[in-house]
Amino acid sequence: MQSFEHVTLIEHPVISRDLTILRDIQTPTADFRSALKRIAIMLAYHALKELPLRSFEVETPICTTTGYDIDQEIFVIPIMRAGLSLSDAILQFIPDARVGHLGMYRDEETHEPVDYYSNIPNGIEDAIVLVVDPMLATGGSADDALSFLKKQNAQHLRFISLISAPEGLQRLEHKHPDVDIITAAIDEKLNDDAFIVPGLGDAGDRYFGTL
Ligand code: PRP
Repeated sequence: MQSFEHVTLIEHPVISRDLTILRDIQTPTADFRSALKRIAIMLAYHALKELPLRSFEVETPICTTTGYDIDQEIFVIPIMRAGLSLSDAILQFIPDARVGHLGMYRDEETHEPVDYYSNIPNGIEDAIVLVVDPMLATGGSADDALSFLKKQNAQHLRFISLISAPEGLQRLEHKHPDVDIITAAIDEKLNDDAFIVPGLGDAGDRYFGTL
């Protein structure tokens, strides 16, 4: 397999099992949602491993000890619509994260992203920013999202995807070498419709039940 400098592939038996549930065309919506959420939390766990902590004194029922809190704001930015599936899950892991939204869909003919919405909270320049989208195919949507957020002065960007195509990873490494990418799978290729092979189909349609 091709190697990527800024990509962390998260491997775990539970992820292998859950990816299979996601890939299986027979999987009912409820099972698809719960498998996706389990993987999302594991990806967020890895993406946030290096968070800075601040220490303070805390009283237990027995004595005083050192406690910790996270010392940097975390922003989660789903690329809608499918990215909402990941951000919902990640908020269970980091309930106080702030959430920005980027609305984008991929034109079915050109495969180019079309922007339709953005709402980013203030303070992005100092925050750790997790940009999330289950599918990284051509990388056009992710590339646009990261470029937009850099124009808003985001400094600490990470990209989380469930399944990535080599084409999308190459594009992000070339255009955004400063952004770490965390993914659960690097698939084989894109097909002529720019769908990931083997992939799981359209993540948004499967998660929201809009097939
Ligand atoms: C899918 C997916 C990504 C994008 C990936 O979104 O969720 O956002 O396509 O493709 P790319 O890497 O080639 O840009 P889609 O257009 O299906 O919109 P949706 O999230 O509203 O379903």
